Amino acid sequence: RLLIIDFGSQVTQLIARRLRELNVYCEIHPFQNVTDAFLADFAPRAVILSGGPASVFADGAPMPPQSVFTLGVPVLGICYGQQVMTHCLGGLVERGHGTAEFGRAFVSPTSEALTLLDGWFDLGREQVWMSHGDHVSRLAPGFSVYGTSPHAPFAITADVARQFYAVQFHPEVHHTPKGAQLYANFVRLAGFKGDWTMDAYREQAIAKIREQVGDARVICGLSGGVDSSVAAVLIHEAIGDQLTCVYVDHGLMRLNESEQVVGMFRDKYNIPLIHADESDLFIDALEGVSDPEIKRKTIGRLFIEVFEKHAKSIGGADFLAQGTLYPDVIESVSFSGGPSVTIKSHHNVGGLPEKMGMKLVEPLRELFKDEVRALGRELGLPESFIGRHPFPGPGLAIRCPGEITREKLEILRRADAVFIDQIRKHGLYDDIWQAFVALLPVRTVGVMGDGRTYDFACALRAVTSVDGMTADYYPFSHDFLGETATRIINEVPGINRCTYDITSKPPGTIEWE
Ligand code: XMP
Repeated sequence: RLLIIDFGSQVTQLIARRLRELNVYCEIHPFQNVTDAFLADFAPRAVILSGGPASVFADGAPMPPQSVFTLGVPVLGICYGQQVMTHCLGGLVERGHGTAEFGRAFVSPTSEALTLLDGWFDLGREQVWMSHGDHVSRLAPGFSVYGTSPHAPFAITADVARQFYAVQFHPEVHHTPKGAQLYANFVRLAGFKGDWTMDAYREQAIAKIREQVGDARVICGLSGGVDSSVAAVLIHEAIGDQLTCVYVDHGLMRLNESEQVVGMFRDKYNIPLIHADESDLFIDALEGVSDPEIKRKTIGRLFIEVFEKHAKSIGGADFLAQGTLYPDVIESVSFSGGPSVTIKSHHNVGGLPEKMGMKLVEPLRELFKDEVRALGRELGLPESFIGRHPFPGPGLAIRCPGEITREKLEILRRADAVFIDQIRKHGLYDDIWQAFVALLPVRTVGVMGDGRTYDFACALRAVTSVDGMTADYYPFSHDFLGETATRIINEVPGINRCTYDITSKPPGTIEWE
């Protein structure tokens, strides 16, 4: 396996993505955790030093242990990683002084060829993406230059004998078109065969779950989302009926959603499943509540109570299974310090394991979202399930701004179903990160037939996004919007007006509450 030492670059995760695409298994660890003992235990076959915002001159500048350079394995330094490598091995790094470079640059080769650059420079110079203030100004002993750019005379450096490679730019980003080729060359040099596949992962994961759990009991909260579903099916494959799933039905799901989830896990996969139908409990508790944070907290609290009750009803469990993904696990290296502001209280079952004395089983901890989807396919989950848009834990409650009622939820369910049907019919579902209807707490006057109506208005929301952190509205055609509005108003009693939300995130958020 390959070790990526993270110095806090915004794009460290992309390095891991590029390597996984090459079927090479890698892990990202923050530099603080990488000690001599850690390295000895991890025994990497190659190391990548990431970029980062610091300066090697700063007090307490992030550094790897010197032993990284005596492991005898290939090391690749990226941007700050190049500066660290130069600094640690006896070269010189200087401050910007007008040589800072951000954005597109072009690197030209020097006379000597380098295997790391196979496939580069076929047509002369190559475009790369730079983002640096400091730069290398004197090479460390043993190093030579293999590529230069107008502002970075040491854009690509290497000590071939010791297999140390370093680049000033970011090969992991999209704007370095031959970056993937550079990583492919690096892992080939390091002897990786590129044989890390989902099939292999599935077998490894099953063996690991069996080893961790033994003959103990596991309980898993199933939400109907891809992550918990894949985790449940995988764990069931590993330990069979030692696993029980609990589906907490808070009555805030979409049209027919609960039936689909329960049907699939019980009937198709034969997984022992408790369908905790507690919609009255949740909806009664939400009566009169219109503040979004109180709504979220009420749902979160009840969810845990219900989950606990059902866990006790089967005599408890030793382990709680969770569909935690790799991006949730990576400890990001923060230089800004200070707590961030809570925009929304997210729904999770954190705290439950300690409270109930359970340990965690998290078989997806090493995976990115698209890898979880690939694993789901490997496990035979239907495509319609795997490609589903995200759905928030508090469900439709946060898509009904203001106080919710059973009547409003019913109207919202029907409108949402029409919108999604329209999107599927026009073949747009997979182009959109998430789409839904929000039912607005506003009644407006309309005219239908010869009569006056006084019904709710709704807002359609559809966004594109990569990770949910930022988003833009989806550019539907006017025809599509017109047709959808007509269908919703005709087919859904209770709605007589339809709007389209064209707010990006930021400044908006994806959900309305
Ligand atoms: P916002 O509204 O914050 O949403 O822009 C970003 C993404 O997160 C989802 N979301 C949640 N997911 N529990 C979840 O599991 C929650 O409490 C929650 N709130 C928002 C939202 O649907 C979007 O994909």
